Amino acid sequence: MWESRTLNDGSSIPGIAFGTAYTCKEELGPRIENALKAGFRHFDTAQGKAYDNERELGEILSQSGIPRSELFISTKWSNPTSSTPLQACRASLKLLGVDYVDLFLIHQPRNCAGDIPGTWKLMEEIKQMGLARSIGVSNFKVDDLETLLESCTVPPAVNQIYFSPNNYASSKPLLDLAQQHDVQIEGYWTLRPLADDNPQPVVRVAHDIAQKLKCQSEQVLLAWAGAKNVLAVTRTARAERMQSYLGASEVKLDPDDITDLDAAGAKASPDSELP
Ligand SMILES: NC(=O)c1ccc[n+]([C@@H]2O[C@H](COP(=O)([O-])OP(=O)(O)OC[C@H]3O[C@@H](n4cnc5c(N)ncnc54)[C@H](OP(=O)(O)O)[C@@H]3O)[C@@H](O)[C@H]2O)c1
Repeated sequence: MWESRTLNDGSSIPGIAFGTAYTCKEELGPRIENALKAGFRHFDTAQGKAYDNERELGEILSQSGIPRSELFISTKWSNPTSSTPLQACRASLKLLGVDYVDLFLIHQPRNCAGDIPGTWKLMEEIKQMGLARSIGVSNFKVDDLETLLESCTVPPAVNQIYFSPNNYASSKPLLDLAQQHDVQIEGYWTLRPLADDNPQPVVRVAHDIAQKLKCQSEQVLLAWAGAKNVLAVTRTARAERMQSYLGASEVKLDPDDITDLDAAGAKASPDSELP
């Protein structure tokens, strides 16, 4: 099972998250119930259009009977035109039916409308008020994170970014900066190459490694992310794949496997739709 990690504010975060984006309301219930049964305890949502499920997620988690203290709930401030971070956080708490979230993120740097230091102060107040145990950012690039780190009182605990072998080379400076300041990187879209209609070089390499290690290709990519010290944020409609994701922490890649995945990713065609 994926080990929990300690964030720079001392909080503990499960090493893998189950994401709820792009999941219609009818599918959400069975999916979250299966994820809980499989052993997921960390759930990632947001206020954005791609999610729109905080109320439903909150109800399912509450009906599960699992104590709040054993769940890790993460959401994001997505709609800067209709709310301040504090208003958004309060609205999320109401929808989720909880009195705190474990992690509250600024969904996009553009939400800050050019004032990262000023916006972050509002996030720090949310943490101070106990409405979020940890605060962080998402989709922050090197410049954004540098601006934040230079001006903050409480450093961000997390930066949630797109992360797969296909963008590893371009993400490396951001990973190094995060590591230097003890900011945990969470990676989404790690499995995207596998779901792509036009298989990228990394898919063949992941498949070969999976055959060698007698495991699944998705486990190879999740183990690769783990080897880069990146916390996995993933999703699946299939119960058997949930088990596979959780079991990926047992997959031990050789240094050569990691190098081969890095090299295959470097040959990928540029991504057309980045956040
Ligand atoms: N902060 C942000 O801006 C942002 C942006 C995007 C996502 N996220 C978060 O990250 C979460 C994860 O989303 P994601 O889309 O990035 O998830 P992902 O884990 O990279 O990809 C999941 C997809 O991969 C497919 N898959 C897994 N193994 C496969 C295999 N062996 N062959 C073919 N397809 C395979 C799954 O299909 P099946 O369902 O059929 O198994 C599923 O559709 C989201 O729910 C959200 O919480 C955050």
